[in-house]
Amino acid sequence: MWLKINTVSEIVRVLKTLVAYLKRPDLYPELGRKIVKNTINRGNAFKGKEKTNSWASSNAISQKEAVSQLFGLDINPFQSEYQEILRTSAQKEKECPIKMGGAGALELIYYACEFTNAKNVVETGVAYGWSSLAALFSLEKRNGTLYSSDMPYLAQDGDQYVGYVVPENLKKFWKLFRFADKESLPKIFADQPTFDVVHYDSDKSYNGRYWAYNELYKHLRIGGVFISDDIGDNSAYQDFCEKNNIATTVVEFEGKYVGVFIK
Ligand SMILES: C[S@@+](CC[C@H](N)C(=O)[O-])C[C@H]1O[C@@H](n2cnc3c(N)ncnc32)[C@H](O)[C@@H]1O
Repeated sequence: MWLKINTVSEIVRVLKTLVAYLKRPDLYPELGRKIVKNTINRGNAFKGKEKTNSWASSNAISQKEAVSQLFGLDINPFQSEYQEILRTSAQKEKECPIKMGGAGALELIYYACEFTNAKNVVETGVAYGWSSLAALFSLEKRNGTLYSSDMPYLAQDGDQYVGYVVPENLKKFWKLFRFADKESLPKIFADQPTFDVVHYDSDKSYNGRYWAYNELYKHLRIGGVFISDDIGDNSAYQDFCEKNNIATTVVEFEGKYVGVFIK
């Protein structure tokens, strides 16, 4: 009985998503990719996962250690300095009627921006907007710009809630591109070719990551900081670093692994 209900609700969800996609011709390329990803390419999401988790767990350090070793900075002031806004944003997330993806390592993002004196940052994956908020706290000081890419939440009809926790006064430093990364990133790079910090937290498949890592890396300046969330999902990040001879730091954060290096 439970199985049946589960299957019916899953079918309803898939149909709802499909109908929402069909109403958005600008998202047809992503629809095609999603169909391939969820049918013939299913195993791609977990390709090399075991190998990478054993590599990551034997190398991982804490977020505090990473910020200190890479940037020479202490992470503690972040929470106290932005305590009030963070509290208001957490309340907004609670009140948000739709459920979206969880936050990245905020201190790592904020201090990467501080370390590079960032004027231009690009991120993939916004959801409630926690990583956006962390970058914007820093960019605001230099009148900089955050370029973000996120797919609309089609199944949940949640388009207007992407970036929900970002306060209005920070939005003037933010350009949000509402397409899949494969469409958003070329548009972002046409607008701004080089970045001080890049943060990846969107399409979790092996192929999606590998494609975006190469693109983001090309547009990261020397001395800039590269961060990728959830690198334990598959071996795309590890393989990318090995192929390009990049010595990366691995951060263990809330039961997952984040990769970070300075170019
Ligand atoms: C884990 S959430 C991002 C969390 C966010 N970085 C934070 O710290 O609050 C992942 C997001 O990636 C987006 N996403 C997934 N696949 C995508 C794609 N192919 N292109 C653009 N965004 C995508 C989802 O819509 C979702 O909002």
